[in-house]
Amino acid sequence: MEEDSSVDNPNTDRPAENPKLLVIDDDANFLFGISRLLTKADFTVIAATDGVTGIAKAQSECPDLILMDINMPKMTGFQVKKALEVDPVTQFIPVVFLTALNDDANTLAGLSLAEDYITKPVDSTILAARIKSILRRVKTGMRRAIIESDSSFSFERFKQWAYSVEMMDERSVGHTTRVANLAVTLAKSMGYTDDPFLEAMYKGSFLHDIGKLAIPDKVLNKPGPLNAEEWELMRQHPLVASQMLSAIPILNEAADIPLMHHERWDGKGYPNHLAGEQIPIAVRIFAIVDVYDALTTKRPYKEAISEENSLQIIRSLAGKQFDPVVVEHFTDHFTQIISESEKLHQLSILPKPA
Ligand SMILES: [Fe+2]
Ligand SMILES: [Fe+2]
Repeated sequence: MEEDSSVDNPNTDRPAENPKLLVIDDDANFLFGISRLLTKADFTVIAATDGVTGIAKAQSECPDLILMDINMPKMTGFQVKKALEVDPVTQFIPVVFLTALNDDANTLAGLSLAEDYITKPVDSTILAARIKSILRRVKTGMRRAIIESDSSFSFERFKQWAYSVEMMDERSVGHTTRVANLAVTLAKSMGYTDDPFLEAMYKGSFLHDIGKLAIPDKVLNKPGPLNAEEWELMRQHPLVASQMLSAIPILNEAADIPLMHHERWDGKGYPNHLAGEQIPIAVRIFAIVDVYDALTTKRPYKEAISEENSLQIIRSLAGKQFDPVVVEHFTDHFTQIISESEKLHQLSILPKPA
């Protein structure tokens, strides 16, 4: 079943993905052996022989889990774990220590920092089973925390969950930050300079797909096209997001984008089939940059499309999926908007969340 004819980020034709593990160990022989065994157990394995390289790989590759030695040159496993915790991109990646140190002090210190502490030698079948169990537990915990979140939940906390959504679903870390910056830049360029408006837009953009946390994995990561029933479930994510955000006073005003980002100018979107100016301007602006970023970024299931071709696709959807006035402004001022947005990104002069 097709999702209308929207240019979107549907889960069609997506290859099944193995969980990605980063193994950090200074013993090259062990690293080689364990990587081979874990690859056989259907994991994608990335390796690093020291903590500094390991941190860089964790940032660039966003693995689902890190398996790490403790005694290593440059940085110990404990130091690496602490460094990962202060970076929003890596702070939620579960870590398992895999070490020859089997004394109580190290075991207790390791367990206080990481998801698990496993001593060498280890049976590869048991190790694979333990990793899978941890991945299941982590994902369930994330969902529960966000679904049970209440008014004390801060925006910063939500931003961290939004990073988690990226890692869990699209595997395109940076998408939410880029679209938040780009949406705000496009809005400013169109003359919307009111601070509360821009702030709500920034928050809403960041959280646009947070409702996907409530979509079961088997639907979210299904390798092939979704059937009618699965689409029905997938289409619930804007409503789920809206329910979650409306329960949190500081995020009430940011709920428009998560609720309406799949509505279309011609009324053929979802969930409420809004049309034209029934869709708030912030959402009409966001919808374009969200699709632009999805088109121009390489995803596991598709190659990146050039800027020029992406703009052509966006132009062809003016008056159908998108507000023609916003499309015209975006495409006419494209170079300037992109460069302003990149500056915003680099200088971190984002509108400050409450
Ligand atoms: Fe969405
Ligand atoms: Fe998106």
